[in-house]
Order: sequence, then structure tokens, then C-alpha cells
Amino acid sequence: MPGTAPEGPALELRDVAKSFGSVVALRSGSIAVTPGSIHALVGENGAGKSTLVKIVAGVHRRDSGVFRLHGEDVDFGSTADSKAAGVAVIYQEPTLFPDLSVTENIFMGRQPVGRGRRIDRAAMYAEAERLFQGLGVHIDPRRPARGLSIADQQIIEIAKAISLDASVLIMDEPTAALSGVEVERLFAVARGLRDQGRALVFISHRFDEVFELCDTVTVMRDGDYVSTDAIAATSVDEIVSRMVGREVAELFPKTPAEIGDVVLEVEGLSSLGTFHDVSFSVRAGEIVGLAGLVGAGRSEIARAVFGVDRYDAGAVRLAGKPVPARSPRAAIRAGIAFVPEDRRKQGLVTDASVARNVAAVIRRGLTHAGVLTNRDENRAAGPWAARLEVKTSALDMTASTMSGGNQQKVVLAKWLATEPKLLIIDEPTRGIDVGTKAEVHRLLSDLAGQGLAILMISSELPEVLGMADRVLVVCEGRITAELSREDATPEAVMHAATATTAHAIEEEATA
Ligand SMILES: Nc1ncnc2c1ncn2[C@@H]1O[C@H](COP(=O)(O)OP(=O)(O)OP(=O)(O)O)[C@@H](O)[C@H]1O
Ligand SMILES: [Mg+2]
Repeated sequence: MPGTAPEGPALELRDVAKSFGSVVALRSGSIAVTPGSIHALVGENGAGKSTLVKIVAGVHRRDSGVFRLHGEDVDFGSTADSKAAGVAVIYQEPTLFPDLSVTENIFMGRQPVGRGRRIDRAAMYAEAERLFQGLGVHIDPRRPARGLSIADQQIIEIAKAISLDASVLIMDEPTAALSGVEVERLFAVARGLRDQGRALVFISHRFDEVFELCDTVTVMRDGDYVSTDAIAATSVDEIVSRMVGREVAELFPKTPAEIGDVVLEVEGLSSLGTFHDVSFSVRAGEIVGLAGLVGAGRSEIARAVFGVDRYDAGAVRLAGKPVPARSPRAAIRAGIAFVPEDRRKQGLVTDASVARNVAAVIRRGLTHAGVLTNRDENRAAGPWAARLEVKTSALDMTASTMSGGNQQKVVLAKWLATEPKLLIIDEPTRGIDVGTKAEVHRLLSDLAGQGLAILMISSELPEVLGMADRVLVVCEGRITAELSREDATPEAVMHAATATTAHAIEEEATA
């Protein structure tokens, strides 16, 4: 390992600035990461975290400031430069080659060559096997990358980093799309790498993770460095107030709404191998939470209701009228809005401007004599974008250059502008910073107060318990419990969320 200066930081940035045209992404970014440490980097959406990471990764070049690796000044013109210098960046969604094997992905472009200059596959598989063993994980090195979970893809990126002997590993929101078990496995791997003396940077909006995994935390706000503390010497409240620089509103501003008529009725919905005999209803003014473990089938149920996925049996009705299967268009016409879990892939045209994205769904209403003007688009988008604190200098900014969290907000704004009867929202605050989280919750609460029916899927138990009038727990494709707001305790939800498994174990024990 290139630990030439063990006493100094492995990675150091000081007063680093980066602008894109008139947008100042980073004004004065600073961080110093010691070898053998896991350093958290936190800040609100658009604070400049990913920009800082991309400078280290060689994606962007800084405009000014100090950038050192192991005490030496560096300046990367490409991602290849950064890799060669021992830096590895693991993104939320890795980009592996789906048709290549796991092993080929790890050794991309530098396959060991055996006798006769042939690629030595046996050696490659053995080496991949050894890497996975070292990480304490099981992944078949011969299988293609296609179809691997995001969690496994990240592990492969980490294995690749280790095979390149990276001394600095940066993870930019790696846990956003992982289940609890997968997060634990990633943390175990990260701790192992730390103990080998590598320097790790961990970006997350989830403070429980930051406090569990990291030893040091650096806070950023609006492109500036704010503070660095030992985790043991600080608290969540302290970090939050530094991040937002203002008082944070109550996180779950749930106001009791008047519950009206049934809006959504789902009856006996089944999809072979995915979910079975799912029946429930959502009333006007009601927030119904779909709780359960990641992979329980909650998103699949939502996608079937909206018509993105097919189902084999059952019926969906909105305000008493049947909603045809497999037609999102018909669902939108019936008054259903659907904010998907994977907003970037499913919810956003990343090359179109913010206003255009927000206006896309309400286009018809905006067109005057068939002409859609930019001014009309901005007028429709403006209020929602402002409410969600989309931090962009101008509404005509391209969505792909926005920070991850701001992209999420644009998708939400876009759907809210359609004035739906039913809002299905999958993981409403994933990737959204703590300040805006409260704002999203207040918005949902207000919308319910105005008579909107809301079906909310969330893996964050406090969010479900804090916001829902009624909680449906899904376990292995079945609804295993329906709990009123009063009865929905963490214990009751967790018990029902693991019901089938627990039942199977009990059966096994008695057999
Ligand atoms: N290529 C780009 N062109 C223009 N503006 C950009 C570009 N990349 C980033 N920005 C802007 O720089 C600011 C910082 O973005 P960045 O992605 O670094 O935020 P972040 O802290 O990672 O936020 P999040 O928590 O939402 O991921 C944002 O206002 C963003 O819109
Ligand atoms: Mg980011």
C-alpha cells in the first residue's frame, strides 16, 4: 500500500473551487482524510459533495485550491490519471459491462497474460475468488454482471479498487439503494479496508449510518467547508444545524386530515412469483404507508397499480371506475400520479431542462394554440420547484447537471403539477437532505389535508410511522398486517415484515 507518509493525510483538499459557467458548485471545499480512517462528508442537496468527489476522481478539474495525495500536489486530467494514482470512487449506481463476466469487469483492460500471450482465465478467476474471499463476500466470479444487485455491483467495484491497490476509496451515497443486510455487508467490507490502512470517504444523507460507520465527519454548506469533528465528539443535532445553518422544522409535521371517500381500491391483485392476493384501499385525505423489507414486493405492487408492470389477476379501481391494466397513460388520465423509486432512470429526462421536466406531464394544459413557450413552462414549474427548494440558479438548467437530490425533487414537482387524485410515492425522501425532508413531509401532509389520497412506500420506519394514517405491512409479496396509526409500533411493523420467514422457521423447528 502506498502509505509513504503515514502521519499525514492520504487525501487533502484545501480551498478548492469549481464553477460551471455562472454556477459556483464549489466555493471553498476542504477535507483531509487520514489513512486508516472512514471520513464522512455531509451536506444538503447541492452543497458540492459530488463535485468535490469528481475533482478527486479526475472527472472535473478544479479552478483553484490545493489538492494533494500522500502529501504530493496532484492535478488529474482524466479518470485514468486518478485511478493510476490509487484513487477509487464507488458511485451509487456502478457502471459495469453487463455482458462481461464479474471477473472480466474487475480486470478490464489489464487481464493477466499467460504462455503464448493468451489471457490466463484460470488465473483471473482465482484472483477474483481471492479478492472476494478477502472481502468476506460470495459472488460467482464467472457469472455475467447482468442481473447482479446494485449491492453486488458495488462490491465488484470495490474488488476492482483493491486489485488496483487503491489507497483512497470514496463512496458517494452507496447505501441509497441497498437493503439493511446489504448495508451491513458493505460496512463490514469498509471496516476491513480501513483496518488495512486505506483512507475512506463516505457520503450519505442518513445520519444513523454516518454515526455507525465513520470516525470523522466534515460538513459542507453551499459549496463551502464548514467543520470537521471526531464523530465521538459531536452529535446529530450539531451536524444538522451546521449543515442547514438554520433551525430545522419538525421532521414529521403530520396534521390529522378529514378522511373522505375511497379513492383507490385494489382487489385480489396477484403477479406470479412477485405478489399474491393483495387487497387494500386508500381514501381521500388518507396517507397509507406500505412498509416492509426491501425486496418484499412493495414497489412491484405500486408499479402494477400504475400500469407499468402487468398482473395476472385482480382489479384496480379509482373513484369507483376500473383502471385498465398495463397502461400508465390510462392511469394518469384516471388521476394517478406515480413518483418511482428510481427517479433518475424512470422519472426524469435528464437532458431536458428543469422546467420542461416539470411541465412535461401537464403539457397539454400549457399549450397555447399548439405552442409551448419557455415562459409558460417556467411559470408552471416555478412554484413547485421553489416549494421543494430545488437549488438551481435557473429553471432552464439541464437536469443531468443538477445534484442527485435536486433531481429527485424535480420529479416530485413534475407529478404534483398534474393535480392527481391519488399520489403513489416510492421512497419519498431517499437522497433528499434533512432540511428538505421535513419540507417533503409537510407537503405530503398538506396535500392529504386538501383531499389527496396518498400511498407511500418507505423503508424508513420513522417516516412510515410518522406520516401514515394506516400502515400496511408487506412480507414476501403478501400483506401480513394492517395497522392503524395508534397500533403501528416499530415492533408490530417489524414483526409483520418478517412474518413469513419467522413462520417458516417455527414450522421447521416443530417439524
Ligand atoms: N456539470 C455541471 N454543470 C452545472 N452545474 C453543476 C454541474 N455539476 C454540479 N453542478 C451544480 O453544482 C452544485 C453542487 O452539486 P453537487 O452535485 O456537488 O451537490 P451534492 O452535494 O452532491 O448534492 P446531493 O446531496 O443532492 O447529491 C449544484 O447546484 C449543481 O447543480
Ligand atoms: Mg451528490
